[in-house]
Amino acid sequence: MTPLLLLATSLLFVLIYSLSPLLSKDTLPGPLYARLTSLVLKYHEFTATRTSYIHSLHLRYGPVVRVAPNEVAFASAAAVKEIYCSNGSGYDKTEWYDLFKVYDRRTMFTTLGKGEHAKRKRVLADRYANSNIVKGGVIEGIKERARVFGGLCEKAGREGVDLYISDNNNNNNTVLHAYAFDCVTLHLFHPYSTSSLTNSKDSEIMLEVTFDSSLQNRLLSHYSPPLHRLLNTLLSSLLSLKPRETPLADHFVLDTAALQANLSPFTLLHRLHHDLPPNSSLDQTDKAAECLDHMAAGIDTTGDALCFLIWELSQPSSLPCQRRLQQELRSSTPDTPIEKLAYLDAVIMEGLRMFPAIPMSLPRYVPAGGRTIGGYKIPGGTIVSGQAYSVQRLGPEHGGVFEEPERFRPERWLEGDEEKDRERRRSFFAFSQGGRGCIGKHLALAEMKCLLWEVYSKFTTLPDPRMKAEEMEMADLLVSSRPAGQRCLVRFEKLIS
Ligand code: HEM
Repeated sequence: MTPLLLLATSLLFVLIYSLSPLLSKDTLPGPLYARLTSLVLKYHEFTATRTSYIHSLHLRYGPVVRVAPNEVAFASAAAVKEIYCSNGSGYDKTEWYDLFKVYDRRTMFTTLGKGEHAKRKRVLADRYANSNIVKGGVIEGIKERARVFGGLCEKAGREGVDLYISDNNNNNNTVLHAYAFDCVTLHLFHPYSTSSLTNSKDSEIMLEVTFDSSLQNRLLSHYSPPLHRLLNTLLSSLLSLKPRETPLADHFVLDTAALQANLSPFTLLHRLHHDLPPNSSLDQTDKAAECLDHMAAGIDTTGDALCFLIWELSQPSSLPCQRRLQQELRSSTPDTPIEKLAYLDAVIMEGLRMFPAIPMSLPRYVPAGGRTIGGYKIPGGTIVSGQAYSVQRLGPEHGGVFEEPERFRPERWLEGDEEKDRERRRSFFAFSQGGRGCIGKHLALAEMKCLLWEVYSKFTTLPDPRMKAEEMEMADLLVSSRPAGQRCLVRFEKLIS
């Protein structure tokens, strides 16, 4: 490097350093380069390793880490409460959420400001209340779909089933995403829901939504729209960096959301067509956009959470947990209310703690005037976030609450007094927290419980020897994660009744 270039570069760094309010009062932990550039963070985003990269920084620097000049990651329960729960729904979302617009409309998920979000949520929330999920139509429909899943596992038996995704050509639709798809469309559209567990045409829609390889393409469109426009053709033709395209799902939802007759009162669509507050201004495209958004939000999340959990339960080290779960479920009946099964609940909490389906950062802007978060004064406009993977996997030595965080141990959710329980739940972030947390949480939990009931009251699950451990590492998609090897082969052994 010539002396002149060296001088110019140093001056540039000094200029950036003195202009950025976050930098000039810098006491934040983190690597030196993160004070000067976001390139390393972006590299990890483009290579689908952002979540594990940020986690490695937390392990090194603690629960507060600067990850880019204008971005700070937090992993403590107190910081998460401030960012996501202050004034009810926390700080406003960043423009990163523009990537998720549907039919070019903003949905509840993609609204950025609090007011707009609260207005939309008031319209939709009641269909997701636990009271609507555990009564009649929804829970019975979920149980029916779980039984279909169990029947298909029995058929596959010791041959093994790919729980992550099956090849649609061999008519093996025994996948968790198909189950999640059929359950969420039940809740959205019954009687116009899908049967992708048994019907290949419906399964094609599910596969289209699940097989998403648009990470790099979408990130580029977010960070540099002109470059994205310029390279668009090149990206998809030469580099296989495809945009997100889901024509089958788009049409399925547009057509179904237009149906008004005979809808079950528990469905979201019934609410949207027959039950809206008088001042609501949702037109037909808004209604369809909301339905498509919820449908997509309910497939990979629940499907992957179950996939990682069943894989973990199938490991030799987790066999004692599997046996205890089988015992609890086999001493219950299909009519036992699922919320009464304490060990089942603990298994699901532990699964979501270790393998949260949305493990990554949920970015928010610090409000004007700045805030103190995790003991640090952070200027307004800074991007801050927590990621479930780190909030739930940092041990006490790194500022977290979970002892031996890398160990799958459902018993931890049953130990200690009420205060201990509250402390654990404050650090449970798989569904986010506050007013913008997951609206589908009760639906997802009901689906997970009914499916595990069906599987572990009837089978022992074992890992297929063809699988390699690294295939089940978590790889980032834009918002969710998936097994890096994109398969999860598990064997089912029938229990003697
Ligand atoms: C295990 C399964 C699931 C997990 C781990 C999960 C997790 C989450 C998380 C972390 C958020 C917050 C995202 C953010 O702030 O960027 C969220 C929001 C959301 N989830 Fe889920 N989710 C699950 C299942 C579902 C299901 C079944 C539905 C069904 C409809 C659903 C619908 C939504 C919607 C509509 C939002 C946006 C809420 C809002 O902005 O107010 N999710 N979910």
